Amino acid sequence: MIIAQISDTHITINAPDADQRMRDFALTVADINALDPAPDAIVHSGDIVHGGKPDEYARVAAILANARAPVYLVPGNRDDKANLRAAFPASGYLTPVSGFADSDFIDYAIEDYPVRLIAFDTASSASNKGNFGPERAGRLARLIGAETTKPIAVFMHHPPFEVTVGPDRLHFQAPEMVTQLGQILLKSGRVIAVFSGHVHRACEGRIGNIRAMVAPCTATTRRYGDYPPRMQQRPVYQLHRHDPTWGFVSETRIVAADPAGHA
Ligand SMILES: [Fe+2]
Repeated sequence: MIIAQISDTHITINAPDADQRMRDFALTVADINALDPAPDAIVHSGDIVHGGKPDEYARVAAILANARAPVYLVPGNRDDKANLRAAFPASGYLTPVSGFADSDFIDYAIEDYPVRLIAFDTASSASNKGNFGPERAGRLARLIGAETTKPIAVFMHHPPFEVTVGPDRLHFQAPEMVTQLGQILLKSGRVIAVFSGHVHRACEGRIGNIRAMVAPCTATTRRYGDYPPRMQQRPVYQLHRHDPTWGFVSETRIVAADPAGHA
């Protein structure tokens, strides 16, 4: 099973680099389409757009219409969940799950693969940082517990571990949130990986024995870390390959300068 992860495309309309962000996103989707073997799924781990506006999501929808693999979207702090849902009306997984008290959350499980994919909503209405509390804890525990045999990969925008590279180690509003979230992720023993974004640079950590990865920012103008001059116009994304024996093996891919000459 192969998952392609895109993160932090920050599509916008009016910024000086708005066209570059569109180009980065479109080139990334073209690169993923050219992969052989093809990925089974594409997950966008949030900050899909920069301002949460319908016309930004319309641009995203136009780009993602070209994707050959199924696409799953996870909200980030820059996303507006109502506008996100409105832009992808045919995406059944974005529909609020009946039985949950608060339908504003976008969290869901995809059961179509050997590894379950759980998207978990960490976006806060009050902060750029992640939010977590008893209600979200209940939702996550319920998503994890809905199936009891398969391994699980959880996608959430904010990394639930201390990121010791970069200026800010903590990406949730309070340290206790990270502790409590980690306890739920570890409890079943079936969560084998957590994939995040938000930090705009690639890094890896651990939550107990769970691998925790942060994908770099797909928008070349918004990413952090040192990239050599020849890569400055080349977006990057991640591929997570799952093998039943070895678990996930991940790589960060550089998008081909010319998708037609993909190598
Ligand atoms: Fe971001």
